[in-house]
Amino acid sequence: MAYFPDAWLEELISKCDIAALASEYVQLKPRGGRLWGCCPFHHEKTPSFSVSPDKNMYYCFGCKKGGSLINFVMDIENVSFVDAVRQLAERVGMELPEHSDEKGAVQNREKREKMYSATREAALFYHQRLKQPMGREACEYLAKRGVSAETTTAFGLGWAPDGWDGELFKHLNNNGYSPETLTEAGLCSKSKKDDSKYYDWFRGRVIFPIIGSYNRVVGFGARAMGNEQPKYLNTSETPIFNKRKILFGLNRLKGKNPGRIILVEGYMDVIGLHEHGIVNAVASLGTALTQQQARLLKNTVSEVILAYDGDFAGQKATLEALKTLEAEGLIARVLSFPNGMDPDEFLLSKGEDAFRALCDEAVSQNSFRLNYLKSDYDLNSEDQRMAFARAGSNLVSQFSPVEQEHYFAELASMTGFSRETLALEAQTAGIREVHKNTVTNYRNTRNAMTKLPSEDDRRRNAEGLLIRLAIDDPAYIPRIEEQKQLITGAGATALMDTLKDMPRGDPEALQVFVSRMEGNASSCFAQCMSMPECEDPETCFSECVAELIRLDRESEIEKLQQQFQDDTTTKDKKAELLRRIGELRGKNDEAEGRGYEP
Ligand code: UTP
Ligand code: MN
Repeated sequence: MAYFPDAWLEELISKCDIAALASEYVQLKPRGGRLWGCCPFHHEKTPSFSVSPDKNMYYCFGCKKGGSLINFVMDIENVSFVDAVRQLAERVGMELPEHSDEKGAVQNREKREKMYSATREAALFYHQRLKQPMGREACEYLAKRGVSAETTTAFGLGWAPDGWDGELFKHLNNNGYSPETLTEAGLCSKSKKDDSKYYDWFRGRVIFPIIGSYNRVVGFGARAMGNEQPKYLNTSETPIFNKRKILFGLNRLKGKNPGRIILVEGYMDVIGLHEHGIVNAVASLGTALTQQQARLLKNTVSEVILAYDGDFAGQKATLEALKTLEAEGLIARVLSFPNGMDPDEFLLSKGEDAFRALCDEAVSQNSFRLNYLKSDYDLNSEDQRMAFARAGSNLVSQFSPVEQEHYFAELASMTGFSRETLALEAQTAGIREVHKNTVTNYRNTRNAMTKLPSEDDRRRNAEGLLIRLAIDDPAYIPRIEEQKQLITGAGATALMDTLKDMPRGDPEALQVFVSRMEGNASSCFAQCMSMPECEDPETCFSECVAELIRLDRESEIEKLQQQFQDDTTTKDKKAELLRRIGELRGKNDEAEGRGYEP
């Protein structure tokens, strides 16, 4: 079985967002600091499935399933721990640790080396074809778009010949590359009609080689010259190509210390900017900016200028990219292009000077955020102006103190409310939020608890609360061990056995720990974590113990009652049973604080 080191799993977990993941299966709505939706694991009409983004946990109050996000993938995709980890790693673009599969690793490396060499040969092939007479039309196309011969060479642009007879395949196959290597590298495909024939993946398109680390060609983007769809055909995922881990154009900046990088959306933006002497642009490959890409940027520069398309989608993507960059500690500024233009179009129509002027006007990320938020509201309407003032002050209150000073002033001038009012709004909103989210005393929990229908649920809750105490404070572990006989739930018992090894103070390590739990323990853990933190642990402890003792008596009473109703029970025995039932009832009533009434 594959082995994943803890540190690697922790990194994986830190990159995943359970809310985003669960939203792909369940429609989630926020309420009381959590997200709620109808459970994907059992049938229901009112939502009892909940996700706590801060704890990175999910829990269904209906079917009691829960756990970490790895548990979620295991449950929803019905896959093993290993497969769930693989899927998540792929999703966030993390390479599996090499020794997770020691045997295959060497083989895989050799296979990949062959693919790297095949894609390099392919890039040369396409580039040569562009320069041959057959590439004339493509050259004209590029010229028409303002791409010079120098830039064409600098980026190694190419031409993929049209037709189904597999020209590239034949060329590479004759040079010793196996059909398997060529198909796996995404260059060729086996013909469906004739098993012995292969055709080329890119046909009749302008080729943009994508170059990764160590200057290796890993894949291609291929643009149609007319209106054929798709406009760009890209290499699909291969063992050497993952579009989430690479930035087009970055290879050209390695070791050059460009100072800052302009991040754009399209291949043609990078090339168009380069054509105008702006050589420090890179593009993601048709996906939202990923964490890996942000990291690549961080390793190269300290400042990023976001220059996405001026359309709505581009602005929205900008907001997302800002978050991703910020998570890597990168500060970005934002360029906005008028009339939905992209950088390439802007340069072609307005020229270099206008572009540089625009660069000088690039706004800070927080200014962009505030203005983006503002665009959602019609400030001529009184209601919407107030709504924007509220939303805006919440946003600004997340900025650093200095920025708050600056942006509260800006917000004040946008909305007409005073800075003091706006700051106060943010503060009270914060307080309201805290009150909404924490039910801090045990009484409330218990009141909610006694409304629950079954004894089973009550037991589960008392057990859960006890274990939660021990999770929050290890001093409770030995005390709960002493009450071990009271805890009977399978998940709770299993969870209790793990308590002393539980990592504390490190949320990611805890997640990994939970993900590795067996049986119902992870669900039980999620249940414990779904309970509000206790303000008065001592009272909670004694009340939970009392509750469990009481529930034990209840089930004892039930057993005795069954014996009482049994016809074979003698009169004397019945009297004895009655006496014991009465005794147990008395104790329970006493425990409930009702007093014993004979
Ligand atoms: P754009 O459509 O903005 O591309 O998509 P562009 O580079 O400006 O293209 P031109 O100027 O029309 O030639 C941005 C990026 O999204 C990906 C490509 O990476 C593209 O550069 N994309 C777009 C695709 O992968 N496939 C498509 O069909 C379209
Ligand atoms: Mn574009």
